[in-house]
Amino acid sequence: MAESFELGDLSDLSDGEMRCFENIGADGLVVCRVEGELFALTDNCSHADTPLSEGRLRGHGLICPLHGASFDVRDGTHSGPPAWEGVPCHAVTEADGVAVVVMSGGDDDSPSSDGRLQTR
Ligand code: FES
Repeated sequence: MAESFELGDLSDLSDGEMRCFENIGADGLVVCRVEGELFALTDNCSHADTPLSEGRLRGHGLICPLHGASFDVRDGTHSGPPAWEGVPCHAVTEADGVAVVVMSGGDDDSPSSDGRLQTR
């Protein structure tokens, strides 16, 4: 079931920057701005339960800080090993100075239940 959350004014988030919202979704949310547009992914690497918000943003690629898997912020897809699947991607809109994310389904609230390694 989709659920929306106000993220507030993100006009101070510059291109190439990202911000973590720990209390949104079961694993938190990382919001990135690339080429003026906002993108949001679940803040948890599909490989080993690590916050992607601690990684690096290179263009549209969000690189995991632990083993370097890259996820496309436009759709959550991964570029290859060591991740074997993408991460949930969520729609973000910005209007009248307020950003809103719509959390899509698939953000399971039991991160260790799908076989990911538990590192935190
Ligand atoms: S934990 Fe992200 S690539 Fe291993």
